[in-house]
Order: sequence, then structure tokens, then C-alpha cells
Amino acid sequence: MALLGIIGGTGLTSMPELVMARREMIKTPWGAPSGPLLHGELNGEPITFLARHGRGHTIPPHRVNYRANIQALVDTGVTHIIAVAAVGGIADDCVDRIVVVPDQIIDYTYGRSHTFYEAKSEKFDHIEFTTPYTEDIRQKLISGAKAAGVDCVDHGVYGATQGPRLETAAEIKRMENDGCTIVGMTGMPEAALAREAGVQYACCAVVVNRAAGKTDGAPVLADIEANIKAGVANVQKVLASGLKAGFC
Ligand code: HPA
Repeated sequence: MALLGIIGGTGLTSMPELVMARREMIKTPWGAPSGPLLHGELNGEPITFLARHGRGHTIPPHRVNYRANIQALVDTGVTHIIAVAAVGGIADDCVDRIVVVPDQIIDYTYGRSHTFYEAKSEKFDHIEFTTPYTEDIRQKLISGAKAAGVDCVDHGVYGATQGPRLETAAEIKRMENDGCTIVGMTGMPEAALAREAGVQYACCAVVVNRAAGKTDGAPVLADIEANIKAGVANVQKVLASGLKAGFC
């Protein structure tokens, strides 16, 4: 049976509209996930929710146990994942509070446990990752945004940086030259692990600031604070409207 999992990012550590049926603490061979899995219904549809940074937003991007998070969701029957992410906007059309549904990703992270294939003795498979996000879920997010009247950019290249510091202006310029249109700190290895685990996966990003060097001199952090609440509200509208049509 298909089951949707939502991984909530910054600003989405809980879902007040979730009618919760069960809270489950899970252990995986990779350790504990970021927090309990919350099973319930969102707009009448069964979903499982996990807060990526923990309930109190205490786990920084480089300390998230991405393997445990994906494994825990898979172990409880999740087949499709929507990864919610607050990001910085690099491209001109990636303006504050707009929802972006990326179709590509570039990994600038390092030192993270990025694969389930660990044991030397284990047979491993290479995974196809030409298109890192599931197109069907992407299209449903885009339709959901349209139906909800939320401004949405229907493509984009997510540049995944290490954090937790923000980028320098030169780093963003380099990323722009590479083709990145948005920047965030949690996109990888999450997307690759989902693919290794055989789960359908897409990202619903919301721009909460213009990236470093793109703010006309204003501090990036002030931008984030000003936009996070309204940005996440936009994501919630997209999810609610997408759920009506169904994501799985
Ligand atoms: N850079 C990296 N990650 C982010 C940003 C940013 O500007 N905004 C939100 N997450």
C-alpha cells in the first residue's frame, strides 16, 4: 500500500493540522531518527510526519542522521516522501516566500554518511540518479500550488551546502555559475538515500531569503526571520491542496 511521508524542515517542526493517531519511536541499524514518527491524517489522508531537525529544532543540518530518517520511514511503510525545505533564492525568480519544486540537485556537502552501502562484504548497487526527484510527485506539488493559488517555480537546481553557516557571496556566485537556482543545507544526502532505499521522493522548497550577495546589503538572517512563517504557510497550502488530489 502506498503511504506518504512528509519530512518537515526549518519552520515545519510540527503540523498542527495533523490529526495524530500514533507516535512511534523507532530504532534503525543506523541509529535513531531525528524524533518520533507521527502517524495520522492530514486533510483526511494518511501520512507519516518526521521533523528533520527534531521537535525543538536542535539538530543542525550536518548532524541530521539522514540514513536513520529514511530507514525509519521506509520501515514503517512509507513509499513516497515529500521533503520540505526552507532555502535561499539564487535565481532572480526565486524570490522570498515563493515555492520552488526543484528537478535537479548539486551536492556540495562533505563528511556526511551518504550511503546505505557501508559493509565491505556487502554487495552494492549503483543507483540511477540522473533525475534525482520523482517527476510524478513534482507534478502533483506544482498542480497543488496552482490549485491553492500559491506562486511556484516549477523547476530548479538545489545546491546543497554543508552549513550550518550561511554561504559567502563568492560561494553563491560560484554556485550560480554551476547552475544552482536555490541553496539549502539538507537536500543531500537525503535525496540519494531515498533513491537507494527505493522510495519515491521530491522536494517542496520555499524561499525564505535571497542568498548571500543577493540581498542588496541586507543581512540574510533578518530576511529568513521575516519570511519563514509566511513561507511555511505557503508550503502547507500546497500540501493541503495536493493531498486532495493525492500524492501517491
Ligand atoms: N543558504 C543555505 N541554506 C539556507 C539558506 C541559505 O541562504 N536559506 C535557508 N536555508
